[in-house]
Amino acid sequence: MPKILCLALNPAIDISSDAEVVRHTHKTRTHNQQQFPGGGGINVARVIVTLGGTCELMFLSGGATGELLEAMLKPLPIVERAFTIHDPVRVAFAVHETSTNLEYRFVPEGPLVSDAELAPVFEAIETSEADYVVASGSLPRGAPDDTYVRLAEIVAKAGARFVLDTSGAPLAEALSKSKMFLVKPSLGEFEAFLGRKLSHDEVGAAAQAYARSGAARYIAVTLGGDGAVLASADQIIRLPAIEVPVNSATGAGDSFVAGMVWSLAQGNTIEDAFLFGQAAGAATVMTAGTELCRRQDVNDLFERARAAV
Ligand SMILES: Nc1ncnc2c1ncn2[C@@H]1O[C@H](COP(=O)(O)OP(=O)(O)OP(=O)(O)O)[C@@H](O)[C@H]1O
Ligand SMILES: [Mg+2]
Repeated sequence: MPKILCLALNPAIDISSDAEVVRHTHKTRTHNQQQFPGGGGINVARVIVTLGGTCELMFLSGGATGELLEAMLKPLPIVERAFTIHDPVRVAFAVHETSTNLEYRFVPEGPLVSDAELAPVFEAIETSEADYVVASGSLPRGAPDDTYVRLAEIVAKAGARFVLDTSGAPLAEALSKSKMFLVKPSLGEFEAFLGRKLSHDEVGAAAQAYARSGAARYIAVTLGGDGAVLASADQIIRLPAIEVPVNSATGAGDSFVAGMVWSLAQGNTIEDAFLFGQAAGAATVMTAGTELCRRQDVNDLFERARAAV
């Protein structure tokens, strides 16, 4: 079974709760508080576990919130490796306003890290035996924008597959200089990189240009409730979203990435993996708050969508 390593350079403790109305000045009383270990790479690892798999998880961890994060991760059947940093792990907070069904998400920028704190991560990736290295999330402050590019090079040199889900300057660096296996921008992230808006019909060709440039073998652009587009040098596939009751889209992108990688690691085709990613994304939309997907939902949605293709 191919080995998967998830990388979370800017993890978080994700807290979500409900409030009838979110108000300024006055206290907003909340209930149904839930907390999960979060941040891109950690969400991917959690979904892989939910799907019945296991993986290695490397993350930066500092302060008392880092200790809490490590304690929250302990029960998961994964191999964890925390890299100690000085600054504390961030705490992200989401409030679901029940009167409007709107969600307010507060996401701190997180710790400032030094080169010396990042160096052991590079060493660990260099000696890793993983077949898939999945990096997801923003870079912490202080990490150079080409951090993922450098990691992708190390992974490619080792003959393994680098998968990236990030935004902004780190995504731009990766799409310009990298040799990734798979990169997953959302439509907004891809448009921000290109500096122009794209119609859904234009996404495939625009993504394919980057597959042909060698930036990545596959580029999956996710369109939220409108589905996703997968482009490689010689193929473009566009799939509508699987229709589900919408509760909270938090983590849909990470679930999509986890579903795709997990399916590929099981030996499935890229087409089936793409559909499985969609099923994992849709299953996450069905659950409330920061809860991710449930295995049965993912499998049911995958079967339903495959029957419809
Ligand atoms: N409303 C929805 N209904 C069904 N499926 C959805 C919906 N929203 C998202 N998905 C599924 O999840 C995938 C990823 O969603 P999305 O494009 O919102 O990711 P994202 O913007 O990266 O999200 P994140 O907030 O996790 O970063 C979509 O391609 C789709 O398959
Ligand atoms: Mg995303």
